[in-house]
Amino acid sequence: MSGPSRPLVTAAVSLSVFIGCGGPTSTFPDDFVWGTATAAYQVEGAWQEDGKGRSVWDTYTNDLNLAEGETANVAIDQYHRYREDVALMKEMGIQSYRFSVAWARVLPEGTGAINSAGLDYYNRLVDELLAAGIEPTVTLFHWDLPQALADRGGWRNRESVEWFNDYARIMFEALGDRVKTWITLNEPFIDAIIIEGAIRAALDPNIGPVPEPFAMPAELQAGQAIVGHHWMLAHARAIETYRELGLDGKIGIALSVSPAYPATDSPDDAAAATIADGLHNRWFLDPVLKGEYPEDIRELYATHADIGVREGDLERIAANRVDFLGVNYYGPARVRAAPESAHFGIAYLDNPDAQPAFNGEVYPDGLYDALMRIDRDYGGPLIYITENGAGFGPEDDRLVDGAVHDVLRQDYIRRHLIAAHRAIQDGVDLRRYYLWSCFDNFEWIFGYSRRFGLVHVDFETQDRIWKDSAYEYQSYIRRNGLD
Ligand code: FCB
Repeated sequence: MSGPSRPLVTAAVSLSVFIGCGGPTSTFPDDFVWGTATAAYQVEGAWQEDGKGRSVWDTYTNDLNLAEGETANVAIDQYHRYREDVALMKEMGIQSYRFSVAWARVLPEGTGAINSAGLDYYNRLVDELLAAGIEPTVTLFHWDLPQALADRGGWRNRESVEWFNDYARIMFEALGDRVKTWITLNEPFIDAIIIEGAIRAALDPNIGPVPEPFAMPAELQAGQAIVGHHWMLAHARAIETYRELGLDGKIGIALSVSPAYPATDSPDDAAAATIADGLHNRWFLDPVLKGEYPEDIRELYATHADIGVREGDLERIAANRVDFLGVNYYGPARVRAAPESAHFGIAYLDNPDAQPAFNGEVYPDGLYDALMRIDRDYGGPLIYITENGAGFGPEDDRLVDGAVHDVLRQDYIRRHLIAAHRAIQDGVDLRRYYLWSCFDNFEWIFGYSRRFGLVHVDFETQDRIWKDSAYEYQSYIRRNGLD
């Protein structure tokens, strides 16, 4: 690691706790909830079992080779091992488990007949969690669209709004008596815009693969905005249904939030950062929390593509606000003006870290800034951190004599919790933290090469081994904070 050595970093962190919180400890509010998060495709496996239909990710990995030959056909086999995994989480002290439902497990064709064996799995999982004293938090959609719906145009087809709503209703009716926290969709920017945009380009000979998905040509990115808009409509429609059913839980969405900082203090870089912030953050924060799209980005997108907004859409979005906002935070963006760039005339700086984390620069102040900014600009909503976590590669994740001394992950978690605590002290209504992830799992196009877990998983034997970070997280939960 460049800069200060590890002991110095630790000393600086302890000092910042002391200074930042007016006392030597960071104790969280009494009702603060400590969780972990996963997504169905990344952990379940059992890809063709008990009547499950195919999802697009089954296709991407098995047929299109997008993860270089790896698939999540087995993943960490949570479909069969959920009892052991719940017991492990209980031992760790986890208070809430965020998992997602595989739409195609419940509705193999995406719409129509329910596969009751698939639905049963989620009933059993929810009951197992509740029996262990762990609150289930359900994400309805974490990227694994049924292939049958992709064949009908997927989210680009406006009918997707009703497909999703019908599926959501089934899940609310099946689990709503026991599940009190719902997340409609996970990370519209990352999936609807970036991942699906990059895949569309890769599969279309007229476009060709994009060299840098986060900086895709403006026309291509704008062409994904209609997909994102259908997600926003589907989200609003599902909230409407949830409330019509009179269920007594809370419903929200998980948005990726990445504060955009200008590379220098020049006005051009400041303007570039405003665009980056608009593309990534405001484009979804604004509809979710204000019921409108930001005008500057709407104009940018509209010069390239129809973003699909029809009469009444924004009214529907505005009328169905969330009970809480889920924030997924990994790192910030550093932005500069780049008039030559086809990506809206902006460019991103490289990650400056000597030992880079997989998901961007390690910058806990970015979490603090993001939380403060949402609180300030969006009327102080109730916030849950629905994802935060890190992986640094084999060195930090080395299994030696049955132990993993993942010091970088521990440092990451600790510093982000301190930042979150500071935001609470400064008035943000933050009440939950879900670490990504309890278990190493299948990291999308990166397959099994990127570990984010507190628990090491041997993907051959399915053995689970606690890393140092797992013991550390357990101790935070026990103390309801850090010292
Ligand atoms: C997030 C995804 C999640 C996982 C983490 C590392 O963007 O929501 O599924 O891949 O990154």
